[in-house]
Amino acid sequence: MFCIAIALLLVLVVDGHQHYFSRRDPLARWVGEQSRFARERILANIAPFAGDSTAMAGAMCASPSHSRPDYYYAWTRDSALVMNEILSWLDDGHVDGRLDIALDSYVGFTRHVQSLDSAVYGLGEAKFHMNGTVFTGSWCNAQTDGPAIRALAMMRLGLWKTVRSDLDYVERVWWRNGGCDIWEESRGLHFYTLMAQHRALREGTQVAQRRGDPVAERYLEAATGIAKLLERFNHGVVVPTIEWSGGLDGKSDLDTQVLLAALHFTEVGEKYSVESPVIISTVLAFLRRFEPMYDINRVAFTDIYGVRVPVGVAVGRYPEDVYNGVGSSRGNPWSLITSALAEYHYRLALAYADSEELVVGPELAALLQWSAPYLNNGDEALDSLVSLQSYLLAVGDLYMARVARHTGRDHTMYEQWNRRTGFGQGAIHLTWSYAAHTAAARAREKLVEAINN
Ligand code: NOJ
Ligand code: NOJ
Repeated sequence: MFCIAIALLLVLVVDGHQHYFSRRDPLARWVGEQSRFARERILANIAPFAGDSTAMAGAMCASPSHSRPDYYYAWTRDSALVMNEILSWLDDGHVDGRLDIALDSYVGFTRHVQSLDSAVYGLGEAKFHMNGTVFTGSWCNAQTDGPAIRALAMMRLGLWKTVRSDLDYVERVWWRNGGCDIWEESRGLHFYTLMAQHRALREGTQVAQRRGDPVAERYLEAATGIAKLLERFNHGVVVPTIEWSGGLDGKSDLDTQVLLAALHFTEVGEKYSVESPVIISTVLAFLRRFEPMYDINRVAFTDIYGVRVPVGVAVGRYPEDVYNGVGSSRGNPWSLITSALAEYHYRLALAYADSEELVVGPELAALLQWSAPYLNNGDEALDSLVSLQSYLLAVGDLYMARVARHTGRDHTMYEQWNRRTGFGQGAIHLTWSYAAHTAAARAREKLVEAINN
């Protein structure tokens, strides 16, 4: 099978034209316009830009939706992920004074939250009110990935005292069973959460060592313990939860939080990074599951600015999901996860572009082979596939085009798309949906640059 896939790849490697990357490429144009909109919309969800005088500066809502569903809270995970994304825009040279204000305010909001002593779950509290007070309703708590992701942002800003509050907390709690996963449903020990904590403690160890802070030793010990625990998630595919201890039961082992963890917390060459065989196998396994599950996946093309473009599979959180964005019936595909799939293929290509040692193993060959029919549906794309990198660019573009298909002409993004109609569903203007799009767009830009060089 391995050989067949390689042969298939070679057949696709034909003399190429540059037109696939041209500015007139409708998908590239869409990505650019959507990114501009996304950056504006993200800012509009952060106080003081949120148009809510009662919100504390630096509070970022998961979505401006106040009811059905009520997402008007500052979720620690969502906010920290989005702030890391904003930091990457700045790293990439994006200049906008409002971003500096947003970051400064977020630091202030973080210090405020860290000083609260009334939160039952402390820094592991999933969300806070936008005015900075503690949420006292019942919720799936604690969620201990949030402080770790926030520590990563604070390290990028060089704010060690603020980092210490979050990392000291993480160092104390990482081993405890009973916390909730990122989907706020299952209790146990969770892959995404542990990967976030591992990355944060590892980076924290280095910073502490540089600063001569003796806490380095404790962080290192914790990071080492987590690394050991993480070995136990490899069951041929990476599973989301071990030692399940409550909450949602009866899930299969396939969960896209594994993909998100690889994207958010690894670099090339690390365990569970995008190009590692077990992550590739996990991604292919859930693609196969989601493909026949949603009616909208029967559509193979979309129209982007009048051009017919092939689309890939829309994916959701996990196959058995019943959360429909408001209550429970049947789960749907998610915008941020389908964007993550686009980012995944671009970063996979970049991993191969950056390293001469990487070879195409059977897992990647299987993924390439599985994706080929989707590309074959396209009229134009094939003759521009000159290399593994351009092939993976085209595959990533399938998922980007899928997101384009279900994102309205006015660029509004939701949390989910209805599995039958494809229309946006659940929280409107979900901040994380926009950030997942800009992350994918940034990876695409880097890849196109690498290919054209
Ligand atoms: C809201 C949570 O945010 C979501 O992840 C979960 O699936 C639903 N509640 C169902 O409990
Ligand atoms: C539900 C998602 O499952 C969870 O991951 C997220 O933090 C909240 N919605 C807020 O966006």
